[in-house]
Amino acid sequence: MLADIVEHLACPVCGQPLRLDPGALRCPDGHSFDVARQGYVSLLVGSRPPGTADSAEMVAARAAFLSAGHYAPLESALAEAVLAGHGESFSQSPDGGCTKAYGGSVRATAPVIVDAGAGTGHYAAAVLDAAGCGVAMAFDVSKHAVRRAARAHPRVGAFVADVWRRLPIGDGVADVVMNVFAPRNGPEFRRILRPGGRVVVVTPAPGHLSPLVEELGLLSVDADKERRVARSLEGFAEVERRVVAFGMALGPDEVRAVVGMGPSAWHVDEKELTEGIARVFAPNMPKKQEKVVTKAEFHLSTFEVTPDAR
Ligand SMILES: C[S@@+](CC[C@H](N)C(=O)[O-])C[C@H]1O[C@@H](n2cnc3c(N)ncnc32)[C@H](O)[C@@H]1O
Repeated sequence: MLADIVEHLACPVCGQPLRLDPGALRCPDGHSFDVARQGYVSLLVGSRPPGTADSAEMVAARAAFLSAGHYAPLESALAEAVLAGHGESFSQSPDGGCTKAYGGSVRATAPVIVDAGAGTGHYAAAVLDAAGCGVAMAFDVSKHAVRRAARAHPRVGAFVADVWRRLPIGDGVADVVMNVFAPRNGPEFRRILRPGGRVVVVTPAPGHLSPLVEELGLLSVDADKERRVARSLEGFAEVERRVVAFGMALGPDEVRAVVGMGPSAWHVDEKELTEGIARVFAPNMPKKQEKVVTKAEFHLSTFEVTPDAR
């Protein structure tokens, strides 16, 4: 665990700063949180966690699909949105440090990124690689996901936490909050962002996973999705939005993985899915189709706190 990650954390019980002792994070009041063998820390306290944590199977499907590079165009677009915008950019300075330019003036700082609902930490790692410096705190309520996130990148700190509760982070420490297909908490995002900080949100767009959605009877993106995102980020203004769309050639195992890692995994019947995949890959043609071309389509939005919400 890096010292420059721990310095941003706050005790989930009393809100005081945490320090790293051998094998545990502790606050001055003695609340203590063990560093697990796999390198993550559970900062989840209180009553039962929400029932929305991804299962081990969903996390494994996500890890397999993302590591195969199918969403690579989304990774680059996300890194660009997180690391740039509004005249600021992070870059590595010749001495190996990190700089951030504001107009003409440059001050040395390493970006502090929070990934809320980080899953396997895949995107946090991609952003840190693109930045060349900085740290990311990956929060997720699934310990299966967080175990992987702890190994995703040397500059990622991974924590079990519920995004719908108070986040175990100090006030005003984050340059950017990333939120990729995951729950949001507008008031908390506002609290943990530095002045001028941004929230970058990725959501699936209506054409996402077409034609698999129709052919396999998967959950489609609901028409109200964008309004719900905006409502969840009250006090923020959307300052930029782009559509990221590309095609993917997927084989049967990849189709199973993309279904297994997404919201349809909660509803799909395994037998029906197997039959559906067999249908998709054995159309009325003599030779079995080996790949199915599938559309990936996302909204990538940047939000800033509105002046009156400060
Ligand atoms: C669709 S996955 C996206 C994961 C990751 N952002 C990615 O795109 O690879 C949604 C993630 O949100 C997590 N999650 C669900 N409810 C949560 C909550 N209340 N607090 C934190 N994480 C949550 C799940 O465990 C899961 O890892």
